[in-house]
Amino acid sequence: MSNTYLVTGAMGCIGAWVVKQLAERGDTAVVFDIGGDARRIKNVLDADSFARVKFVTGDITDGEATKRCVAEAAPKAIIHLAGLQVPFCKADPALGAKVNVLGTIHVFEAAIAANVERVVYASSAAVFGPGEDGAAAPDEDSTCEPTTHYGVYKRANEGTARIYWQDNKMPSVGLRPLTVYGVGRDQGLTSGPTTAMKAAVLGKPHTIGFTGSTDFNYVGDTAAMFIACADRDPASGKGAHVYNLHGATVAVSDIIQTIEVLHPGAAGTLSQDGPELPIPPQLDGSAIHRDFPGLPDTSLQDGIGYTLRRFGELQAASQLDTRDLPKS
Ligand SMILES: NC(=O)c1ccc[n+]([C@@H]2O[C@H](COP(=O)([O-])OP(=O)(O)OC[C@H]3O[C@@H](n4cnc5c(N)ncnc54)[C@H](O)[C@@H]3O)[C@@H](O)[C@H]2O)c1
Repeated sequence: MSNTYLVTGAMGCIGAWVVKQLAERGDTAVVFDIGGDARRIKNVLDADSFARVKFVTGDITDGEATKRCVAEAAPKAIIHLAGLQVPFCKADPALGAKVNVLGTIHVFEAAIAANVERVVYASSAAVFGPGEDGAAAPDEDSTCEPTTHYGVYKRANEGTARIYWQDNKMPSVGLRPLTVYGVGRDQGLTSGPTTAMKAAVLGKPHTIGFTGSTDFNYVGDTAAMFIACADRDPASGKGAHVYNLHGATVAVSDIIQTIEVLHPGAAGTLSQDGPELPIPPQLDGSAIHRDFPGLPDTSLQDGIGYTLRRFGELQAASQLDTRDLPKS
């Protein structure tokens, strides 16, 4: 049986951790990404494991290139993470649709042509609108009324997956993270808390650009969930499944406080400003734990602690990428 996994968008934050965890357990990760910069993967993976990763530069909007790459890799499963985040979709909705929606169709077509066992793709908590104040955390049956182009595209992808199951019996799982944090998170609407951790390590002030509470997903846990869903069918059987991810729901002020407790030098240097996120602050994430028992659940303290430590190591080795910090 193939131990190869094709990971699209693997040069991004979540992808880097998926590649790390696959490589560390001895599996082959084939990276399909338009970007030529593997820094996020290098930041989390040791040199020996990195040497075993296979790289294919390609554009998910190119259906033939996607199909060719999948056919050549002959993977057990595809973990599809390539995408443009909220601000990029807002700035260029047509390109956002091309990458996020058309790109996902290309992945499914390629998976079917190459007899891949299953497709696991990144949806998002942005499929939900902001919701009413005090409303219960949405579960997978809750109404989706996204208020961003990005959320609309992610919701479209869930429909695409459902139709490929209906028409082609291609099993899939879509995962809906909210605010992913950890080493490698340096772009997108909700990257501010991780940038604040980096600023803390560098002794620089930083303002997180949103307020209120959010569902905070540690990237190592998120990556493990993608891999678990790529490895086996859910307890409820094959289909076109979608799962919410829930980590820790915390106020941005509590994130700042935790950073300051773990890195006292940052006391008084971090702040928050801006609107609340147009996404509910907490998702009901119980279904994935029911269908995939044993998934990790890293505490906020441990996740932030590890991230601060790793940023410190990278800084000491002059490998900390600071492009996400505002120019001072
Ligand atoms: N980070 C989060 O908090 C979060 C939350 C919910 C959903 N998601 C989704 O998870 C996925 C991964 O998120 P991330 O934080 O790792 O994103 P990221 O922005 O760090 O990485 C995205 C990757 O996709 C690649 N890519 C972009 N356009 C491409 C194209 N045309 N062809 C091939 N590759 C292309 C980029 O080069 C990049 O390496 C995305 O689909 C994102 O929408 C992320």
